[in-house]
Amino acid sequence: MSAPLTILGIETSCDETAVAVLRGTPDARPQILSHLVLSQIAAHAPYGGVVPEIAARAHIEALDDLIAAALKEAELTFSDLTAIAATAGPGLVGGVIVGLMTAKGIAHAQNLPLVGVNHLEGHALSVRLTEEATFPYLLLLVSGGHCQLLAVEGPGNYHLYGATIDDAVGEAFDKTAKMLNLPYPGGPSVERAALAGDPARFDLPRPLIHRPGRDFSFSGLKTAVRHAAEGLGKERLEPQDVADLAASFQAAATDVLANRAAHAMARFIEDYPGATRTLVVAGGVAANQHLRSHLEAAAAARDFALIAPPLQYCTDNAAMIAWAGLELFALGHRDTLALSPRARWPLDQKANHPGAKV
Ligand code: KG4
Ligand code: ZN
Repeated sequence: MSAPLTILGIETSCDETAVAVLRGTPDARPQILSHLVLSQIAAHAPYGGVVPEIAARAHIEALDDLIAAALKEAELTFSDLTAIAATAGPGLVGGVIVGLMTAKGIAHAQNLPLVGVNHLEGHALSVRLTEEATFPYLLLLVSGGHCQLLAVEGPGNYHLYGATIDDAVGEAFDKTAKMLNLPYPGGPSVERAALAGDPARFDLPRPLIHRPGRDFSFSGLKTAVRHAAEGLGKERLEPQDVADLAASFQAAATDVLANRAAHAMARFIEDYPGATRTLVVAGGVAANQHLRSHLEAAAAARDFALIAPPLQYCTDNAAMIAWAGLELFALGHRDTLALSPRARWPLDQKANHPGAKV
């Protein structure tokens, strides 16, 4: 076994400032020496969504102290590190710049190697922080900005199976929450409200579900929720209406995700006949328990095991960035101080898909 690597990871691509320190090798679960996430939820809540300028400023204000705190918790100094990994995109570019420039400053001052990490690759590999997931596996990546199915052959090696042709599923959760006057962030609010709701009260569409293929569409579903709410003809929705609409939306979105994942499992078996059948769900929406239980059933029906990272590694965090950095570093990947932040950065660079142009 090779010598353990100690990696500091930085994540600033959206509304969480996060820093983590890991120690390990790619072939085993790492020690997570520290894992700090500072959420900006309170700063964005009055606007009902993430305001890029506020996010970038908040990252600047928080990041230096958070790095110091993460090293302190890990009982390490910069000189103990093997490398620095930072999200280099895709995301809100103001935030990405803050994290990447800070990482470059540290790399230069401390003479440490730099690894720029694709945020989506952080999500894609996050399962390997805590679980035994061997390559290749099938990945359902569901977050605020992305909704994709990919075969993961290894770091830097992804094959796009399908993607959304309009909204990401997390975005649909967030917009539904806004329509229902549920608090920001929307996904967890919709899930909470749905617990008291009847998923059968509103007959919402399941876009694309009767079509072959592995693409997603959520914008029609979002519109259908609005029409259903308006159709009640009330000035103000009753709490039960909100709960029933949230439950009906969540059920429809889940059906779409499970159906598309089923089609992707069939394709994965064709492409990798001898492989272990593993479906990984990652990204913020993977925190949704209703979705997890339905995916589990869809996976079991095709002899796949569903693996989902623990909740704290599903939503944005820096442990996943440090881990992707560790896997890439071990493969010899290094970036120079000339590395530029990228607002768009598809995981499968060969894919010619409108949903993959992220
Ligand atoms: O991965 P993530 O933290 O950030 C992005 O990279 O986008 O994902 C955030 C998204 C948001 O749209 C949020 O509403 C959604 O994940 N989300 C959820 C839940 N928790 C977070 N959606 C549904 N149910 C949840 N429990
Ligand atoms: Zn994310």
